[in-house]
Amino acid sequence: ADAPQSAPQYDVVIIGGGPGGYNAAIRAGQLGLKVACVEMRDTLGGTCLNVGCMPSKALLHASEMYEAAGTAFAGLGIKVGDRALDLGQMMKQKDDSVGQLTKGIEFLFKKNKVDWLKGRGRIAGRKGEWGQVEVEAADGSKTTVAAKNIIIATGSEPTPLPGVEFVEGKVIDSTGALSLSAVPKKLIVIGAGVIGLELGSVWRRLGAEVEVVEYLDKIGAGMDAEVATAFQRGLTKQGMTFRMGTKVTGAKVVKDGVELMIEPAAGGKAETLKGDVVLVAIGRRPYTAGLGLETVGIETDKRGFIANDHFKAGQDGVWVIGDVTYGPMLAHKAEEDAVAAVELIAGKAGHADYNLVPSVIYTAPEVAWVGKTEEQLKEAGVEFRKGKFPFAANSRAKINHETEGFVKVLADPKTDRVLGVHIYGPQAGELIGAACMTMAFGGASEDIARTSYAHPTRSEALKQAAMGVEGWIMQA
Ligand code: FAD
Ligand code: NAI
Repeated sequence: ADAPQSAPQYDVVIIGGGPGGYNAAIRAGQLGLKVACVEMRDTLGGTCLNVGCMPSKALLHASEMYEAAGTAFAGLGIKVGDRALDLGQMMKQKDDSVGQLTKGIEFLFKKNKVDWLKGRGRIAGRKGEWGQVEVEAADGSKTTVAAKNIIIATGSEPTPLPGVEFVEGKVIDSTGALSLSAVPKKLIVIGAGVIGLELGSVWRRLGAEVEVVEYLDKIGAGMDAEVATAFQRGLTKQGMTFRMGTKVTGAKVVKDGVELMIEPAAGGKAETLKGDVVLVAIGRRPYTAGLGLETVGIETDKRGFIANDHFKAGQDGVWVIGDVTYGPMLAHKAEEDAVAAVELIAGKAGHADYNLVPSVIYTAPEVAWVGKTEEQLKEAGVEFRKGKFPFAANSRAKINHETEGFVKVLADPKTDRVLGVHIYGPQAGELIGAACMTMAFGGASEDIARTSYAHPTRSEALKQAAMGVEGWIMQA
């Protein structure tokens, strides 16, 4: 697969046009590098824009409005007549927004002189200092380009569950759950992680009975245990049911739905659950199929990830960012990786601090956190002081009838440096930004406590939690 001498030459060729790839491409363009991005989808934006962050948030928002129209509106004195669901329109507005966003990336590519090479990219070894990338278009035609630097940004895909085969419309992954054509009567979700809880919430609000089967005894993957307990209580109150400590051993599609074989994770009596649709959401795994890693001597680890050292993937001139390498599998993490890697390529200083990458679960209420959980600090033997403030005592939350949840600040007892902030409550995802900023500046809890926040806002709960760390108020 030698490239002809006339192969187009680039400073950087990026494989994958998701948040990792497109941010790398745009940054490279801004820095004056000659750059191309290989993407095999018909649209740019990767998992996040096409089948991840954006369509899920569109359905979360719309379904939240739908639910509010049936519950909260009446209490506020708003009569809306007979509420009815137009699922077709709900899906259409989601697709329209996604279309605008993916077109937006295409526009940014043009503006920043990024060539979009449409097709499947494969690394095809090196010729001297030039890495070779072969691009196979949808019609099967192949072209090869030469690159001083190759950035792998191929992302991730849903992890399949052995014994539970995907069957369109019946046993589905997150992509299927973003485009169901009807509200299932009963949806069974396998995995009480981010996808299961977000998309489970969407379909519960739209009328499905939702039961979540989780292997562990705690929901929300790595979240702080105190938050997880409150969050699970909240979701249960909304009508979601949970089977914790339960493993799924198989699934069978039957005439009128799906039968799911389950048993206690610790061993015990097997049972069969019946649902109309089963959503498998047990995590995502790196995607490197057909990438030609072997042609440049790169191996994946046993979980399929490409390891990196400051974004270098072993071989000189090959870099890796986003979901396909280590760190949280989040769009904004992929973006941080992208900018850091490209700046290193351009001879600048690039760095990404994963401890400061916030996590948000966009349910209602939301969950958001940054830094360490109480459990992580205890396990590491790090002492901490804790301040906690409930939204029930926050005036804005009270006036809006949205009092569920709390803010928790964890800080170093000697230096007062903020170690972690955990929020459960409406708009937690917006509120966490102030905590991220404080921690990025190495700030202390007292810095938050002495900052003026507008009254009445939910942000005041963050201030009050920090005041709690300082011992300035009664602890909640
Ligand atoms: P991806 O976005 O997966 O992009 C990789 C791209 O590479 C894909 O477009 C793929 O087609 C392309 N590709 C792969 N191999 C090749 C090849 N050989 N040649 C050409 N192209 C190739 N994260 C958040 O931060 N916030 C959220 O709210 C959020 N919600 C999510 C909801 C869902 C349902 C899902 C599934 C994920 C969500 N995520 C969210 C995670 C987020 O989507 C990912 O972390 C992010 O997309 C990773 O970016 P990436 O660039 O590494 O990979
Ligand atoms: P996840 O890792 O968040 O959660 C998976 C859950 O499934 C865990 O609770 C795990 O214990 C459980 N599980 C694993 N194997 C199981 C089994 N065999 N049976 C029952 N339960 C099992 O993964 P999820 O929800 O699939 O999401 C994948 C990733 O996508 C997330 O980790 C996140 O990085 C990203 N994402 C981010 C979002 C956001 O930022 N709001 C939204 C959606 C996805």
